[in-house]
Amino acid sequence: GKVAVLMGGASAEREVSLMSGAGVLQALRSRGVDAHAFDPAERDLGELRREGFARCFIALHGRHGEDGTVQGALELLGIPYTGPGVMASSMSMDKIMTKRIWRAEGLPTPDWRLVASVEETVEALETLGAPMIVKPSREGSTIGLSKVFSPDECAKAYEQASRYDPEVLCEQFIEGDETTCPVLGEGAGAHALPVIRIVAPQGNYDYQNKYFTDDTQYHCPSGLPEAQEREIQRLVVQAFRTLGCRGWARADIMIRACDRKPFLLEINTSPGMTGHSLVPMSARALGISYEDLCVGLLATATL
Ligand code: DAL
Ligand code: MG
Repeated sequence: GKVAVLMGGASAEREVSLMSGAGVLQALRSRGVDAHAFDPAERDLGELRREGFARCFIALHGRHGEDGTVQGALELLGIPYTGPGVMASSMSMDKIMTKRIWRAEGLPTPDWRLVASVEETVEALETLGAPMIVKPSREGSTIGLSKVFSPDECAKAYEQASRYDPEVLCEQFIEGDETTCPVLGEGAGAHALPVIRIVAPQGNYDYQNKYFTDDTQYHCPSGLPEAQEREIQRLVVQAFRTLGCRGWARADIMIRACDRKPFLLEINTSPGMTGHSLVPMSARALGISYEDLCVGLLATATL
């Protein structure tokens, strides 16, 4: 039957989603899938049923796409979709909720504070120590994120993060190796792909260095010792299963330089599929082409 690639949407990551969706659409079509672009920012999701779409590939990022809302609408419409279900999507979009669950389950994630004012941001810096990351709880692609070193930077950092979300997360910065690792599958069948180690210019893996420059270096194979690669893979599978994820996701991890301890930062339940994106890069290291990845993910679409 017909497949809708959901792309665009109204979130701050709209531009990224349009790039992801264009790649997925082209890949599915190249394999003979009757795939069509569908932008929920322009059309009512109810049209999916009226137009006879049998399945959806979700290539939306951020709110109203990755956060359980679209997943809930598709549940009501009875149309199977790729990626995690309503609750796992919703919890994973919310970095604070994610960290609470990981911490409660004994998984390592940097210390944090939820703040609602500049004053509380300054207090968080005193407690967590410098440098500290200030970011919107429910946003992606490092949008609205700042690294602060001193109290006088807190006002601007809080103001930028709160522009995107009234829930602002302050998080201890972990100095060390930046890595990311995809997980595919479900339940006991959930398994990690190879780890990618990211080396961004001046350690600054921001929006520009994620999607638009060619200055970021990606190492896959990661170059990490075999035991550490396995440790991270085990950790991300636990992180995925603890949140009830299924289908696919990609967790971001920092490895602390002083003792090589890995810390989970967040999990992305609708990971980027752009030409610069990381799940396709990791899959390729296993010999899985972008097209095979898309077709394989579509086959996991479920309700
Ligand atoms: N939020 C972006 C799309 C990612 O994690 O890949
Ligand atoms: Mg993210």
